[in-house]
Amino acid sequence: MGYMGDAGPLQALIKEHRVLGVVLNALDLEMQHLDGQPFPMESFRQALDFLTNFTHHWHLIKEEERLFPLLWEKGVPLENGPLGKLMAEHQTARNHLAAIRTHLEAAQKGDPGALTQLLSEVRVHVAFTREHMRKEEHGVFNVARTLLDQQDMERLAREFEEVEQEQIRLSFHEWHRV
Ligand SMILES: [Fe+2]
Ligand SMILES: [Fe+2]
Repeated sequence: MGYMGDAGPLQALIKEHRVLGVVLNALDLEMQHLDGQPFPMESFRQALDFLTNFTHHWHLIKEEERLFPLLWEKGVPLENGPLGKLMAEHQTARNHLAAIRTHLEAAQKGDPGALTQLLSEVRVHVAFTREHMRKEEHGVFNVARTLLDQQDMERLAREFEEVEQEQIRLSFHEWHRV
């Protein structure tokens, strides 16, 4: 198996969760040390960009387009089942990030309520995302380990590589346009 050594595709997703965890911890820490400090708008924006790009254009695509459909194919329920719930949570997370971005712009323009709303949205998002990752690692990832054989894992690893190649290609064109 070529994908990330011998660790396999599920381990790759867990590693991505750890990376996300580091960013969420950093956001948490930053929010705890705001007292009397000017709001670190730029580093917040960078964290937000990272969460948008890495989570939504990299990690979630692997889950939504590759892992979850494969599990569905193997009989894991979608509607009213774990896959449907996780898909709905992804949408909630996307909504959080969109709301945070709106508040960030308003806060930058000096809207006094926007910063408070921003911080409360970020707190919700951090807690929500941590819980989502925990749920996946203790739920569908374990289900995947029991349902998928070596061949499935190799197929998934190849498909993850394809997702990464495609996202790199899209980013290249995105940057080219800037
Ligand atoms: Fe997820
Ligand atoms: Fe995940």
